[in-house]
Amino acid sequence: MSLPTTPSGPSPTGVFCSFEGGDGVGKSTQIELLAAWLRGHGLEVLTTREPGGTELGLELRAAVLHGGHVSARTEALLYATDRAHHVDTVVRPALERGGVVLTDRYLDSSVAYQGDGRALGASEVEALSLWATEGLIPHVTVLLDLDPEVGLARLAHRSARPDRLESAGMDFHHRTRAAYLARAAADPGRWLVVDAAAPVEEVAAAVRARVAPFVGVPT
Ligand code: TYD
Repeated sequence: MSLPTTPSGPSPTGVFCSFEGGDGVGKSTQIELLAAWLRGHGLEVLTTREPGGTELGLELRAAVLHGGHVSARTEALLYATDRAHHVDTVVRPALERGGVVLTDRYLDSSVAYQGDGRALGASEVEALSLWATEGLIPHVTVLLDLDPEVGLARLAHRSARPDRLESAGMDFHHRTRAAYLARAAADPGRWLVVDAAAPVEEVAAAVRARVAPFVGVPT
């Protein structure tokens, strides 16, 4: 199969897909469905997430989501640290083996949540993540777009308390949604925007259709 290369850094041979969107949009369900479909076609698939895709990342995740006060810049650096270690020890090795990596959140989460949500500036936060990852950009990024009022209401049924980011307020979540949509509109070659309010199987079919050419599998 012929695969596109990433813009910089060593050229992994696998396919890298990230899933983005607000809290409660159904990213993990869609990742599981896509992974099962790809594995059914005999592909090596790694599913992972940020923050917390490594042991160190789990400690960083606890600090950033469930710790005490964390300043906006500290928050951005904690996510970038998690990402640097995740890419170095998990994502790049899997791509170099020729695998398909599906990650629940990646650098666009930082751009939307810290760059716009926390108003640190999208280009500065993006530059930080590009430095952290030696420029590794996904081949495909799926944005599961949903009104944050609907997404957060879906999470209200969990037993766990809302984390620091989920508790950041509706204005914050509306800013992150707008940031995601603007970023996706500016780079349609990388992004697929799907209405996350649509039925699960409809969303999954749209995702499969977008990923299929990258992995050489017919839909
Ligand atoms: P996630 O694991 O998707 O949340 P959950 O498992 O509770 O559904 O992400 C945790 C939170 O971290 C989420 O609110 C988004 C936020 N986040 C950022 O603010 N910046 C980032 O770079 C990343 C990766 C996540």
